[in-house]
Amino acid sequence: MAAAARFTVVGGGLAGLMTTIKLAEAGHQVDVLSLVPVKRSHSVCAQGGINGAVNTKGEGDHPDIHVKDTLRGGDFLAEQVSVKGMCYAAPGIIYLLDRMGVTFNRTPEGLLDFRRFGGTLHNRTAFAGATTGQQLLYALDEQVRRYEAEGKVTKYEYWEWLGTVKDESGRCIGSVAMDLRTMEIRTFPAEAVCLATGGPGIVFGRSTNSIINTGTAAGRAYMEGALYANGEFIQVHPTSIPGEDKLRLMSESVRGEGGRVWVPRKKGDTRNPREIPESERWYFLEEKYPKYKNLVPRDVATREIFMVCRDLGMGLGGRDGVYLDVTHIPAKTLDAKIKGVMEIYEKFVGDDPRHTPMVIFPGMHYSMGGLHVSFEADPRTQTPVDGSPVNQSTRIPGLYAAGEADYAFHGANRLGANSLLSCIYSGMIGGPAMASFAKNQTTSAAAMPEKYFADAKKYWQDRFATIKQMNGAENPYQLAKELGDVMTENCTVVRYNDRLKKTVERIRELKQRWNSVNVLDTGVVANRALSYTNQLWNMLELGEVIATSALLRDESRGAHYKPDFSLPEPKSKDPREDPSWMDQWRARHEKWAKTTIATYASQGPQISYQDLPTPVLDPEPRWYA
Ligand code: FUM
Repeated sequence: MAAAARFTVVGGGLAGLMTTIKLAEAGHQVDVLSLVPVKRSHSVCAQGGINGAVNTKGEGDHPDIHVKDTLRGGDFLAEQVSVKGMCYAAPGIIYLLDRMGVTFNRTPEGLLDFRRFGGTLHNRTAFAGATTGQQLLYALDEQVRRYEAEGKVTKYEYWEWLGTVKDESGRCIGSVAMDLRTMEIRTFPAEAVCLATGGPGIVFGRSTNSIINTGTAAGRAYMEGALYANGEFIQVHPTSIPGEDKLRLMSESVRGEGGRVWVPRKKGDTRNPREIPESERWYFLEEKYPKYKNLVPRDVATREIFMVCRDLGMGLGGRDGVYLDVTHIPAKTLDAKIKGVMEIYEKFVGDDPRHTPMVIFPGMHYSMGGLHVSFEADPRTQTPVDGSPVNQSTRIPGLYAAGEADYAFHGANRLGANSLLSCIYSGMIGGPAMASFAKNQTTSAAAMPEKYFADAKKYWQDRFATIKQMNGAENPYQLAKELGDVMTENCTVVRYNDRLKKTVERIRELKQRWNSVNVLDTGVVANRALSYTNQLWNMLELGEVIATSALLRDESRGAHYKPDFSLPEPKSKDPREDPSWMDQWRARHEKWAKTTIATYASQGPQISYQDLPTPVLDPEPRWYA
C-alpha cells in the first residue's frame, strides 16, 4: 500500500479531530464527515474539565491513583489496559492542549489550576472556566485547519454516515454517506474508517446530549457486524436542568467549586430557600458520605437524589428536584471558575444562581457502553502497544471506533471529566492503529473493484427511495418520543426485570409500527424527516440492545441498579471489615465481572458475556463514605 493513504473519520468532536490529526501528521489524507459544522459537535457542550494526575497542588497525586479511581468508579468493568494507557497519557495530553493555546484557568503563580471532580479526593481536573469542551474542540479544530490548508484533510460538514462498504472478505474499505442538504448519496473509499460519532442520548428522548446524538452510526455498525458492548451502562448525571425540550447539563464542577446539594428537612416546606436556616436544611450527600461529600461518583449521587425525591417524597414542592446551592460562594469566584454554567442556568431558568439556589434533577447524560473495540497490551507496561493495528478496532476489519462511541474506558460508571480525556486518548491511539492496519493490507481499498462501491451506493439509494414512499399512519417523531419515554422510565436510574421485559416488548412493537411510518416530507433537498426515519430504525435497534442487556444482567453495578439483585448494606462503612459481606461480594463479582456483548440478529440482540482481559488491578468493592 502507498505510504500516504486515504482514511475516513466520522465525527468532528474531540475523538474524531484527534484521530484526524494523528493520521494527517503521519502524512495521510483524511475525509472528515460530520452531521454538523465540526465546531458544533457535542464535545462543545462539555463543561467541567479534563482529568490528569499532574499534581501541581502537591497532593501526592499520580497516574496510578487516577487508574485506581477510574477502575473503582467504573466498578471494575472497564478495559483495564486502555484505562492505564489513558491515565498515564493524561498529564501529557493536558500539557499538549496547553501548548495548543487552550485557555486553561491558572493559579496566581501561573500554574495550571486543577479542581476536584467526583470519585476522587484529588484536585485532578484541568479546566477552562466551565466551557472546557468548547475550548478544547476549538484548539483541535485549529490544528485540523492547518492540515486542511495543506490539502491533507477534507471536511464534509452536514454529511451523514450511512454504513460501510465492505469487500468479499468483510473488510471495511470505505463508507456510504449522504449530504443532508442536497440528499446526494456517495461513497468514500478508505483504507480504514473510524466512527467517532458520540453517544446515543436521544434514544432516551430528553438528555443532556445534543439532538444529533441519536447513536445512529453505532447502531448501523452493530447491524453490519460490529459488536456492541456493555449497552446497559447508561450514566444519569446527578445535576441536570430539567427542560420541556431537552435536559441541560449543570456541571459537576459546580460541586467541585463548593456547590452543596440539599432539600428542606421539613417535607413540604415552601419557604424561599434563602430564608431556610442551615439547621433546617438537609445536606443529604454530605451527611451520608462525609469523606467525598457532594463529590461521590455520579451513579451514587444520582441514586441518592432520586431516592430523596421519589422514595421519601422530599423533593422540592413534593416534586422531582433538589437544590444545588452556590449562593455562599462570592459571585466573583463563581464568575472566574464556572461563569459558563451560571449563564446557562440564568438563560434557561431565569434565576441568577449566584443569588438563588438552583433546582436540579438527574438526567440521562452518557453511555459507558458502545462499540466493542480491542487493544493489544504491552505485557511489560500493561498499556496499549504504540501503533498496534488492534487498538480501537471493532470486529469489522478496517472499522475503528473512538470516544463515547466505544465501550472501553469507563466500565459501569464514568468518572466526571474522564470523557474529554478518553476522547482525546482514543483518537491518539486510534489514528496510528488505522495507519498500521492499512500498511498491513496487501490490497489498497482505493484499488478495490468499483463494484463494491457501486453496490453499496445502490443499496442506500434504494433504501431511501423506499423510505420516501412510506405513507402509513405512524409519525416517526411520535415513535421516537414513545421510545424515549419508555427508555427513560425503565432503563435509567432504577431497573426492574418486569419493566425491562415490557420495554423490550414495547421496542419490538415500535419496530413493527416503524413499517407503517409516514415519512412526512417528500422534498428533494434538506429532507430532515427522510434521514430521521432511517436513523429511527437504528435508534430502535440500540434501544433493544440497551434494554435487553439491562434485563439480562441480574446484579447491581455502577449505573446499573436493580434493587431486586443488590447486595445488602455491609455492616461496616469499609466493607472489607465485614467478612460475610465480602464473601457475597466476591461471588457476585466472579459471576458478573464480564463484558456484555450484543451481536446483531434480525430477531433481536444475541447477548453473551466475555471475560475481562487480565486485570491491571485486583478488584475491590466500592465505598465512598
Ligand atoms: O459535569 C460536567 O461538567 C460534565 C463532565 C463530564 O461529563 O465529564
